[in-house]
Amino acid sequence: MSSVQALATTGRFITLEGVDGAGKTTHLAWLVEYLKSRHVPLCVTREPGGTPLGEALRELLLHEAMSIETEALLMFASRQQHLQSCIIPALNAGQWVVCDRFTDASYAYQGGGRGLPVEKLAMLEHWVHSDIQPDLTLLFDVPAEVSFERVRGARSPDRFEQLDLAFFQRVRQAYLDRAVADPLRFRIINANRAIDEIQLELAEVIMSYIQGEAHAS
Ligand SMILES: Nc1ncnc2c1ncn2[C@@H]1O[C@H](COP(=O)(O)OP(=O)(O)OP(=O)(O)O)[C@@H](O)[C@H]1O
Ligand SMILES: [Mg+2]
Repeated sequence: MSSVQALATTGRFITLEGVDGAGKTTHLAWLVEYLKSRHVPLCVTREPGGTPLGEALRELLLHEAMSIETEALLMFASRQQHLQSCIIPALNAGQWVVCDRFTDASYAYQGGGRGLPVEKLAMLEHWVHSDIQPDLTLLFDVPAEVSFERVRGARSPDRFEQLDLAFFQRVRQAYLDRAVADPLRFRIINANRAIDEIQLELAEVIMSYIQGEAHAS
């Protein structure tokens, strides 16, 4: 039995993180094809969103004015629903869940970017998912100036994308701080390169993750 077939009996939770425009959605599409070609059973999802309620909350979060506290609470409300009705059932069914943003984004955006105390976010995290964390988090790291330009060229800005460069610098730093504090879970990927080059590294990272997991099980 190949290592991937052996692994397919147990789900894994992989998250993609990074500032707006870092390339998460671009690389997620590639990663999904890569894993599919290796017959890994997949559940592909995103935050905020991932459920009908979560997608409705996403619309509010991206477009309605609200306080920082409300923003954080709605992010975790969406997450709770997402975990209960999508992520946990998929993991229990042996699927690999590939999720575009998760709780690290709350620490980076509502914490680092907006300035909400980390203790409050930690309380919410503990309430909503004290017993589950991503197995692997791919952090696409890019200078805020670069991501700013990418997003500005791509579409009309949502509430977050209208924020200033200093906001995205704080978000980037908060992500990096979390990655440095948890090196076993995070892989920092330099996303300020050509997409092909990044994908070569991504393939190596995923292959070595799969092999490492196979040895551990
Ligand atoms: N390495 C790269 N070099 C040049 N352009 C890139 C690179 N990565 C992504 N892009 C482009 O930047 C834009 C934003 O990319 P993408 O939507 O994947 O980012 P994202 O991290 O998902 O952003 P968001 O958080 O806003 O959803 C797209 O137009 C994409 O084609
Ligand atoms: Mg995206």
